[in-house]
Amino acid sequence: MSEGRPDKPTLTTNPFPPGWARSGAASPPLTIGGAEAPPPRVKRAGDPSGWKKTWRYGLGVLTMLFRRPVVRRMPLHLQLEVTDACNLHCTTCSRDLLVHKPALLSEPLWKKMIDEMRPTNINVSGIGEPFLHPNIFEIIRYAKGRGAAVNCATNLTRVKGRHREIVESGIDQLKVSIDATDAETYRTIRGEDYFEQIKDNIREIVRVRDELGATTPSIRFNFALQCFNYRQAPDLVDLAAELGVDGIYYQFLAYVDMEGRKAMLTNVMTRESLQAALDEAGLRAKRNGILTNLDMWRRDVEIFWNNMQPMSEYKPNKKQCYFPWISAWLGADGWVRPCPIMPWTLDEGRMGHLGKQSFAEIWNNERYRELRAALMRGERPTRSCKTCYPQDLYNIISIKAKLLP
Ligand SMILES: C[S@@+](CC[C@H](N)C(=O)[O-])C[C@H]1O[C@@H](n2cnc3c(N)ncnc32)[C@H](O)[C@@H]1O
Ligand code: SF4
Repeated sequence: MSEGRPDKPTLTTNPFPPGWARSGAASPPLTIGGAEAPPPRVKRAGDPSGWKKTWRYGLGVLTMLFRRPVVRRMPLHLQLEVTDACNLHCTTCSRDLLVHKPALLSEPLWKKMIDEMRPTNINVSGIGEPFLHPNIFEIIRYAKGRGAAVNCATNLTRVKGRHREIVESGIDQLKVSIDATDAETYRTIRGEDYFEQIKDNIREIVRVRDELGATTPSIRFNFALQCFNYRQAPDLVDLAAELGVDGIYYQFLAYVDMEGRKAMLTNVMTRESLQAALDEAGLRAKRNGILTNLDMWRRDVEIFWNNMQPMSEYKPNKKQCYFPWISAWLGADGWVRPCPIMPWTLDEGRMGHLGKQSFAEIWNNERYRELRAALMRGERPTRSCKTCYPQDLYNIISIKAKLLP
């Protein structure tokens, strides 16, 4: 555990600079560009429901196809890190290197972001556990009331007595990080004995959902593949079928600042044995009607395997990045970042602070324009970018169609 991080996170509201909860200096502009020119105007975003939502999706696809340094429309997708506090210490997670004083995203900031951006889709998640935020249900209801489809990545260990509230909040999807098909493996990877409780929580949410005749939330498993669990990839399909879970996202090890841990987490796993486990998982998923991202694995297994190796063996991939055109990330510390990858470093991707500027001012500021221009030239301008597997158009559309609301 790193110095300064309390055993049990104490939650503090973290208003505005100076003195960020997440330490490290803000990244400098990507090139020296002198005084910033006033940012180009961004069109106001309308209500993201009904035909207007379809219209915005269409414009989003065009924005991705014709990438430009300046984007005059609001992004479709928002990732909202409501807190960077967490109650677990997972093997894969470098949170202990990044967060020294956990923070809560304050109400003025989450309201400002949702109201200004009017996203079609919100992913409530980040480095911490969203259900530790005391106003999590208010945030979900607010986002739903503004027309967004809302999903949340959660360890589902902090929802006791709140199953009905989850269903009634209208949240569209829970992405439950499970990482194991038995209690012992769960404890090895996630550090605590919550396996049975998580299964009970899923059963109860499904029961309440059915009782209320609701169609949401759908439930998806997240499974971060590593040497401790990869042989369980097929059994996870059976567990999903048993619990009424609709989909599975098999995640490869990512994030640049945890390179030191990758060798330990891949360890005895070989590419062939991983591939065999995923092939078997694919067969079982087909039999059980469980949706997965295994098509991504079939297309890009070389890249994923390479990503799971230590830096010394890393070979850059040629994938195009679309995130800074269609998505934005708001951290519990109030900084807007361009994608879900850069927050996993101390120093990269702080594009602007929402407590000081409007989102429209940040969205086309010099940092954003430089980042987009560099990506358009085929460069990978940051450490995060250099080791990233950016989702290409095929993945964005196929994941959205199968595994997201
Ligand atoms: C960081 S957690 C935050 C949300 C919540 N606390 C949870 O456990 O789902 C979001 C997801 O990232 C995954 N994750 C953590 N570290 C990772 C890594 N190094 N590579 C890939 N996925 C990782 C987790 O397993 C989890 O599914
Ligand atoms: S290449 Fe990766 S790290 Fe860089 S902006 Fe795109 S998604 Fe983020």
